[in-house]
Amino acid sequence: MGNSDIGLIGLGTMGQALALNIAEKGFDIAVWNRTTAVTQAFAADAGDLAARITPTESLPDLVAALKTPRMILLMVPAGDAVDQQIQALLPLLSKDDLIIDAGNANFNDTNRRMAELPLPFLGIGVSGGEEGARHGPSIMGGGPRANWDRAAPILTAIAARYKDTPCADWMGEAGAGHFVKTVHNGIEYADMQLIAEVYGIMRDGLGMSADQVAAIFERWNDGPLQSYLVEITAKVAAARDGVTAGPVLDVIVDAAGQKGTGRWTAIEAQHLGAPIPVIDAAVTARNISARRDERAEMQEIFGAGPQRIQTGAPAIEVLEQALICGKILCYDQGFGMIAAASRQFGWSLDSAAIARVWRAGCIIRSAMLDDMASALGAVPDARLMAAPFFADWLKRTEGALRQVVSLAALNGIAVPAHSAALAYFDAMRTARGTANMLQGQRDYFGRHGFERLDDGKSGQHGPWADQD
Ligand code: 6PG
Repeated sequence: MGNSDIGLIGLGTMGQALALNIAEKGFDIAVWNRTTAVTQAFAADAGDLAARITPTESLPDLVAALKTPRMILLMVPAGDAVDQQIQALLPLLSKDDLIIDAGNANFNDTNRRMAELPLPFLGIGVSGGEEGARHGPSIMGGGPRANWDRAAPILTAIAARYKDTPCADWMGEAGAGHFVKTVHNGIEYADMQLIAEVYGIMRDGLGMSADQVAAIFERWNDGPLQSYLVEITAKVAAARDGVTAGPVLDVIVDAAGQKGTGRWTAIEAQHLGAPIPVIDAAVTARNISARRDERAEMQEIFGAGPQRIQTGAPAIEVLEQALICGKILCYDQGFGMIAAASRQFGWSLDSAAIARVWRAGCIIRSAMLDDMASALGAVPDARLMAAPFFADWLKRTEGALRQVVSLAALNGIAVPAHSAALAYFDAMRTARGTANMLQGQRDYFGRHGFERLDDGKSGQHGPWADQD
């Protein structure tokens, strides 16, 4: 039997950072990577932490280096690589050994693995990029509670802390941890898109320089919008390019990449029947951004898109309020989706606990998440917009969102996430909507039946035959 508390497979950027974090918190860790040279270089560069790190050159060596029952953290690319790695490990492990998948797995895969595997398994969502992995990520755990409890001493020790509370918690059974991480990423896409749209209004609608944009985001980061993403937006806007000496933003191609987690959020929301239009808009905006050639061609046909706003230019405070409003509505949708999944999968996901885990370490960390953690416990179905604190914010900022979306529309500036937020807000606060027309149409062409408003009887039909 070995002496290491935990094993780690996969020494990519994130794996290396997590391994150093684990060692730094006083745990002995054995590591293995497919390429031995990477393992050796990692151990050689580990400095003072090397004493706690056991580099191994084969899977049997890794397994032999661990205390029993063993705990092995997988940091390999999501998808087939995880299944292959698990298959390679299984013959070497005992029935009590615990495998932890810490990659960005699709939660459906985690559900499947949890059901299939003959030994304990845990799926954890880890957020915070390389810096977070090294010094304190946010960790969302899923699987049997007993498996979480086994790994929790290490996972909570390496996690970020909000004040004194570790940002690591058990979210629920099966793939719940990876599900929550997926929604986190959907919100990440939406938060980023909302910010990018405000940048677009500043740049194209108001003619502001990158330095001016940077100064405003820096100021906003001291107010209600305080967040990691607003902070780095200011830094990105302020940065200078080494070649041109102009703003780096001016040399970055306007086509966004994506590894797919935001798309998964959009797809799962449709399966759940959960409305998340701001996140949908953000995913779609990335897809449109990637179509650069088509956009250039359309500009030739239809003329230049965004115009400088000549009349009624919004004050900077109005942009700030619109961003606050859009952000609250985006989180209302994200937490609403989590509540829908909780019902659908029987997971008892605790929205307030999720907001607490997101307060530090992760990419969407923000001051507002602490208020959300306080507000969410008190509203049914995690309907954030109904919580008095956020309802007040929405009432105060709704006008600004309306003004920004209208001005953008009038001046040809695409703001899909803000527009989706506004349409969602208006639809959600409309007690009598227009789906009575849809029901009438469905009944007309397919005799699908409708429910009557007056007596509540369902399966009713209209007098369509009489009218043809
Ligand atoms: C995190 C991030 C991370 C994600 C990147 C890239 O929480 O640390 O969500 O997990 O992989 O942000 O995502 P895209 O390539 O899809 O933008």
